[in-house]
Amino acid sequence: FGTAKFNENEHLTIGGCDTTELVKKYGTPLFVYDVAHIRARARGFKETFNSLNVKNKVVYASKAFSCLAIYKLLEEEGLGCDVVSGGELYTAIKGGMSPKYIEFHGNNKTKDELAYAVDAGVGTIVIDNFYEIELLKEILTEKNTKQAVMFRITPGVNAETHDYILTGQVDSKFGFDVNSGQATKALEILLADEHFVLRGAHCHIGSQIFSSEGFLAAVEKMMTILKNWQKEFNYTVEVLNMGGGFGVKYTQEDDPLKPELFVKSIVNGVKGQCELLDYPFPEIWIEPGRSIIAEAGTTLYTVGAQKRIPEVRHYVSVDGGMGDNIRPALYDAKYDGFLANRVSKELPEKVTIVGKYCESGDILIHDIELPPLKGNDLFAVTSTGAYGYSMANNYNRNPRPAVVFVENGVDRLVVRRETYEDLIALDCYYH
Ligand code: LLP
Repeated sequence: FGTAKFNENEHLTIGGCDTTELVKKYGTPLFVYDVAHIRARARGFKETFNSLNVKNKVVYASKAFSCLAIYKLLEEEGLGCDVVSGGELYTAIKGGMSPKYIEFHGNNKTKDELAYAVDAGVGTIVIDNFYEIELLKEILTEKNTKQAVMFRITPGVNAETHDYILTGQVDSKFGFDVNSGQATKALEILLADEHFVLRGAHCHIGSQIFSSEGFLAAVEKMMTILKNWQKEFNYTVEVLNMGGGFGVKYTQEDDPLKPELFVKSIVNGVKGQCELLDYPFPEIWIEPGRSIIAEAGTTLYTVGAQKRIPEVRHYVSVDGGMGDNIRPALYDAKYDGFLANRVSKELPEKVTIVGKYCESGDILIHDIELPPLKGNDLFAVTSTGAYGYSMANNYNRNPRPAVVFVENGVDRLVVRRETYEDLIALDCYYH
């Protein structure tokens, strides 16, 4: 599964590193990222666009996983990034991403965040709403400068995924609504004000999407809108940004389209529409987060207590859980896992893998067949690279795990484990 392999000691290896050794060095829970996999995914997107001769930008969605180390690596691979907060922007810049390759998203950017982005020289601000137009206009007027922007359109497309991560439907907090004329109004304002250099339009239909249908529907919708604007305002976009959302494999049952095929179908869709509508072919941007980083990540846990309730359930606890991976509790997300420190020939049994948090919903994997596990065994959960560490928290005052990057047999700590001292670092005594 994924890039997992076992060595002669029957230990799981990732990126040429023995995970048992990694755990001796860094402890558990531990996030391990296979850097070769990240690079391959980044290159896959770039190369697909380039092979189709399409001007493009692949913008990594930081929210999937952000730390200093990821940015330099992605810029080396020719990617930019999107950020959705001052904090992500700060991390990206400190991590070495050139501001000109950064895109700033979000439905409620504060005035401070917008000013920070303008001062930092962020490449593109994706404007989400009328309030933001006003805020940004004020800032640009005060600073007597211009800013390259795009604006986010809600295309009114329903993709098939979990409701909480659907974003392209009409009833969404994100973007300018099309049907009520808001998007057109925004266009008029942005075109009329010389502070804004309008580069194009953006849409994002949702996340963990398995097929190209939703994207093709969004392309059709967007191109129809763009054509109308061309007729009405003589405005032709330079860039069409189709957002992210390409699905990944969490379990054996998941069967998403290959990442490159999403790109191919979007490009073909845009080409077809441009020919049909007689519209010049725009530069295409995408914003993949999960599809670059999810399958590169594995979480290693140490097995602890077990509870067998005869004829009901067998619980196996690990030393992490909803603090490092809230997705099962939040979205009923499914994961796969396996024993990582030995190869067992014993008959598998059905167990439920739970975390150590004081909450019954702290279940990482329901009903999985595994060989009998013992205390101190190492348990690996795969495809945890996206929205795991980035949504990690300190519930029950558990320190957040360490994160290590592995490549060609070399391991590098990229985020150290939190300490108990870190946990009280922001607290003040009340005397
Ligand atoms: N661009 C925009 C404007 C987005 O809102 C998102 C994700 C992306 C790109 C990246 O989408 P991706 O390629 O990663 O699917 N916490 C949830 C996912 C939330 C996604 C929010 N927006 C989860 O754990 O499934």
